[in-house]
Amino acid sequence: MEKGNYEAGEDLPWNEVVYSLAKDIEGLVRPLFGTPEGGKSVGTNVSGDVTKYVDKVAEETAIERLKPLGINIVSEEVGFIDRGSEYTAVIDPIDGSYNFAAGIPIFAFSFALFRKERPVYSALYEFMTGRYYEAIPGRGAYLNGNPIHVSSGRPEMAAVSFYTRGAGTGLIGRVKRVRVLGAIAVELAYLARGALQAVVDARNYVRPTDVAAGVLLVREAGGIVTDEKGRELRVHLSAEENMNVVAAADETLLRIILEELEGR
Ligand code: IPD
Ligand code: CA
Repeated sequence: MEKGNYEAGEDLPWNEVVYSLAKDIEGLVRPLFGTPEGGKSVGTNVSGDVTKYVDKVAEETAIERLKPLGINIVSEEVGFIDRGSEYTAVIDPIDGSYNFAAGIPIFAFSFALFRKERPVYSALYEFMTGRYYEAIPGRGAYLNGNPIHVSSGRPEMAAVSFYTRGAGTGLIGRVKRVRVLGAIAVELAYLARGALQAVVDARNYVRPTDVAAGVLLVREAGGIVTDEKGRELRVHLSAEENMNVVAAADETLLRIILEELEGR
């Protein structure tokens, strides 16, 4: 597979490091796909959500491989591992674990590297399709080494991923298609490659680990990412903070989504 032949971040070829880590996780978790064993509950994570066996296997592998690099790690199940570094990897070893356990083939490994609070590289590996997405601030977003871009058009023709517990449901009547795929990291990558025109989660539920990689992908692909009030979304180095996410291919669709969320 071809990947961007650039070195990301500062001194490490992050594209090689993360791709090989994702492939290792894939080898370990693939036999667990859709099995009761993979979905077995083995504890609770730092946010109080259930940790499934597959989450644990994937996270242990990621941590074991990243630890020797001396960087801090923020990961969904264990939270913050402070190594005193100015670099922090914000990861979700399996985004879409419910899908994984239920045999729904939409889930991914999500990785975002920050220097202090500034993103320097992000990647997402969609296990079942072999799609490897990357983003580098100021240098664009890529799918298997090829540049990708959001696709915009008439809002009434848009396909939108929309998670809500009741807020903004008027949006459903203003776009053509609503999809809820159960792995927001993947859905943000789909927005970045033009398959969706917006991704909205208005439940104040997702965490930085779920969206850190995807937010950079969308921005580098030309999209806009805000909170529910239209303020630029800030992704903090945390596994616990809950947030709303409004990501859109263009300003027109963003405005419509914000109007509906505000109940105007
Ligand atoms: C979940 C997925 C899902 C979103 C949930 C997340 P997980 O991540 O991203 O799309 O609706 O809020 O928790 O738990 O499968 O890694
Ligand atoms: Ca997860």
